[in-house]
Amino acid sequence: MPLMEPYRIKVVEPIPVLTRAERTEAMQTAGYNPFNLSADRITIDLLSDSGTGALSAAQQAAGALGDETYAGARSYFRFHDAVAELTGFEHILPVHQGRAAERILFGAMLGPGRVCVSNTHFDTTRANVELSGATAVDLPSAAMKDLDSDDPFKGDIDLDALSAMLAGPEDVAVVVMTITNNGGAGQPVSMANLRATAELCRAHGVPLILDAARFAENAWLVIQREPGWSDRTPAEVARAAFDLADGAVCSLKKDAIVHMGGFLALRDRELATRCEAMLIATEGFRTYGGLAGRDLEMIAVGLREVVDPAYLRTRAAQTEYLAELIQAAGVSIVRPAGIHALYLNAGRLLRHLEPAQYPGHALACELFVAGGIRCAELGSLYLGVEDAEGRLVKPAPYELVRLAIPRRVYTQSHLEYVAEVIAGIAKDPESVPGQRIVSAPKLLRHFHCRTEPI
Ligand code: F0G
Repeated sequence: MPLMEPYRIKVVEPIPVLTRAERTEAMQTAGYNPFNLSADRITIDLLSDSGTGALSAAQQAAGALGDETYAGARSYFRFHDAVAELTGFEHILPVHQGRAAERILFGAMLGPGRVCVSNTHFDTTRANVELSGATAVDLPSAAMKDLDSDDPFKGDIDLDALSAMLAGPEDVAVVVMTITNNGGAGQPVSMANLRATAELCRAHGVPLILDAARFAENAWLVIQREPGWSDRTPAEVARAAFDLADGAVCSLKKDAIVHMGGFLALRDRELATRCEAMLIATEGFRTYGGLAGRDLEMIAVGLREVVDPAYLRTRAAQTEYLAELIQAAGVSIVRPAGIHALYLNAGRLLRHLEPAQYPGHALACELFVAGGIRCAELGSLYLGVEDAEGRLVKPAPYELVRLAIPRRVYTQSHLEYVAEVIAGIAKDPESVPGQRIVSAPKLLRHFHCRTEPI
């Protein structure tokens, strides 16, 4: 099989190409916050791989069969069968997106005084744990500390720390394994780590839940990197992961390649019944959960398309190719490259900037001004802590920028363009100005804050 996309393009959308002056003005108007940019200003959008994938003709055709019956729609059964076939879970609830599953599950399982432990909580996952009154604890593997090492499974949980936590005085109510580990630079989790986690959880009577947004990409990296798995199919590896868990929350906006959707799946009937009551009260009836019949149909098809080895192989190769071009230009990324995103080491590239000048954010702004590329910082703007006068007192451990790659959307020449823009910046990094916060709300400030160049 040649290394090329196993599909051709039959619907296209023009992309805006602005002048540098127009982009500079757009960035000023946006208060130097990429989240404030409107789509008609953006040339290449690498803000998120969520809900941004391209539908297949088969998905669109399935969408036309969408049955919008209030209860018991045919589309629900097709959705249900696809999720059941993939995961093996007994109780499957559709939700409008991943965070709805998190809210419903954690509302039912957690509460004040309880603890949720994870390899790394994604930010909405952490927010939903905390909204329930519980505490979210991240236990990333030690390998994650070294951004440059080629450890194949930096997304793993730290098993010694987990074991100590489970044996300790904390009231651990659930362990959540995020596959792949988005908050941990998109690194995969090994099956060995997942199995050991499941064994520890079982020994302590604590349920294990997968945050399975990128279950197929994790499976692909297991096949490539973990001894003993190379002759298995992505669907078999994904199933083996789900088999180790007591349930899953899943955003389908990633690995079902749809614009909207998610599910909550559980083995425990009593817990599922409580979640179903909350689903009906807040999302929708149990056979649609906030989704249209056409969404359910497109999910059912997408879940089967995403485990195609030819698709996963080229998707992984695309990210790897961009990683090679970026590194050849002298810019570091968190290694090894994952699949859904690359994380640029902005702290290293913009050495002339202090953390208090937000180098990650400065690089994200520069990528837009220089090339119309939108992406977001994962550094001190997102994770840092300031004092009452707005001085950064606790910087983030790393200053990164995430380039998230939508599924089936950009071609090789788009990625070459992205690499060229990055290479241009790398030729004269000192010309990139730092940023200063002008205004910032306390809650979720990276979405709302306004900054300006120094
Ligand atoms: N879990 C993980 C690991 C995620 O990456 C996301 C979303 C969610 C849960 C929440 O799912 O958006 O469907 O409610 N990640 C997106 C991103 C937003 O850009 O990484 P959702």
